[in-house]
Amino acid sequence: MTAIAVCPGSFDPITYGHLDIIKRGAKVFDTVYVVVLNNAAKNPLFTAKERCDLIEEVTKDIPNVKVDVFQGLLVDYARSKNAKAILRGLRAVSDFEYEMQITSMNRLLEENIETFFMMTNNQYSFLSSSIVKEVAKYRADISELVPSAVEKALISKFHHMTS
Ligand code: PNS
Repeated sequence: MTAIAVCPGSFDPITYGHLDIIKRGAKVFDTVYVVVLNNAAKNPLFTAKERCDLIEEVTKDIPNVKVDVFQGLLVDYARSKNAKAILRGLRAVSDFEYEMQITSMNRLLEENIETFFMMTNNQYSFLSSSIVKEVAKYRADISELVPSAVEKALISKFHHMTS
């Protein structure tokens, strides 16, 4: 049996924290589908296509990672790929309640798909897309937080918004 996992998120934009989880997940699962989904509570800076393109760019050297965009429920996407696992990263205790809520809802919707958590590397435990956007807006150096393609995309996005 091939082990297929779905790694879902807003990825607005992808950070080194996400990439760490994707790379480690790709060593455990045969195929990892990284999927950009809509989070109803968030108002994204990048379009879904832009986010997907950035993920493709920074994961292009990982052969068993595939990147996608999906409008709808995560469990429907996972079923369509025959995935039995959802892969999420956990940074700190503060993530726990939110992740428990999502996991419980997904289990209610589809009991045959299990959620697996990986602890984010300590180096990235403070890192989030939101905090990166916050500092990038003020032209701070974000080269240690996101891959260079993402850094360029953020600079360009904020440049266009202010000019
Ligand atoms: O990176 P995020 O914003 O924490 O990811 C949350 C996401 C996108 C995985 C979640 O909002 C989601 O699964 N959205 C798709 C709709 C869905 O399936 N909702 C039910 C589970 S909350």
